[in-house]
Amino acid sequence: MLKMTQYLSALLLLISAPVLAQAPTVTAQQFVDLQQGDSDYPGFRRAHAKGMCVSGQFISNGNLHSYSTAAMFEAGITPFVGRVSIAGNNPNAPDLKAPVRSFALSFNADNTQQWRVAMNTPPVMAVSNPHDFYQQIIAIKAGPKAIAEFFAAHPESEDFRVWKSSYMPTNSFAHETYHSINAFYLVNENKEHQAVRWAMKPANVNPVSVERFTGENALFNELQQRLANAPVVFDWEFTLAAPEDDENNPAKSWPNTRQKIVAGQVVIEQWQAQTGGQCDDINFDPLVLPSGIQATKDPILRARSAAYAESYRRRAIESLTGQVKEGRDD
Ligand code: HEM
Repeated sequence: MLKMTQYLSALLLLISAPVLAQAPTVTAQQFVDLQQGDSDYPGFRRAHAKGMCVSGQFISNGNLHSYSTAAMFEAGITPFVGRVSIAGNNPNAPDLKAPVRSFALSFNADNTQQWRVAMNTPPVMAVSNPHDFYQQIIAIKAGPKAIAEFFAAHPESEDFRVWKSSYMPTNSFAHETYHSINAFYLVNENKEHQAVRWAMKPANVNPVSVERFTGENALFNELQQRLANAPVVFDWEFTLAAPEDDENNPAKSWPNTRQKIVAGQVVIEQWQAQTGGQCDDINFDPLVLPSGIQATKDPILRARSAAYAESYRRRAIESLTGQVKEGRDD
């Protein structure tokens, strides 16, 4: 009898162990409810609501071709439609107060290989799983005291805090570095997988001097004027993980000494207002990947994909039913 009880409790432990080991799940609906809060801008994204469409081309130098079968890494040109934005749920927010700036791109190589990329200015997240990110958003909304307590309770936020303490926001979208944060695999013809993160860094090609804008729309106005003079160019740099780097933890930096490869240049040539613009109907879901690029097991990637779909579903319904409210969009 005793043996049977021991057997049953061991079995129960075995069954429940993987469940207990995981942080509680947060649904896409909960994420989007929290992110949109009481902001009432039907038709707009529930996060990164203020943005502007951009378009241009990626000029690949072929350097990543032996690492990935993705068509766009062959030497040549792939056009993109993209979007620059600031974090937050208000499409009228003042640009220079936003803590995070962003750049998203949608590539369609050979008209068959879709790739959606969405990047932010920090190189890492403060946390490594969706549950903790949800708690972080609650803390951000509660104010500086709550966020200080949150960071103190989450020591894994150290790499993010170190970055934040030295980050100096610039006066231009063109001068920021944008990071993938999450890692992905490059997969080559031999099915070899190389974990990478990437960054788009200002290439300073044809620097133009642009008026320093102030006011609510400073960053968007600045980029419009800059593009009227010349394209804006970024180097697309990939960092290759070493075997000891954890590709599934977006809160952990990899050492600076890791090999870096520039795959080519991303050139923004034009802009368009987001409402009715080419980027408006794009969901920059980071799991839309071409062959030759694969997702890691990073749980944040799945949470992002689900939340972007939910935000997209809400704004698409509102747009289709004509509920879109005026919001500053250029
Ligand atoms: C669990 C973590 C995250 C959640 C729940 C989340 C949620 C969202 C949501 C709901 C949207 C609006 C999507 C739409 O309506 O199209 C969004 C947009 C965006 N997110 Fe995240 N996000 C997360 C993490 C990240 C990370 C790590 C990055 C950067 C690598 C990022 C970059 C962006 C960018 C750039 C956009 C704007 C894309 C556009 O221009 O349409 N997010 N996010």
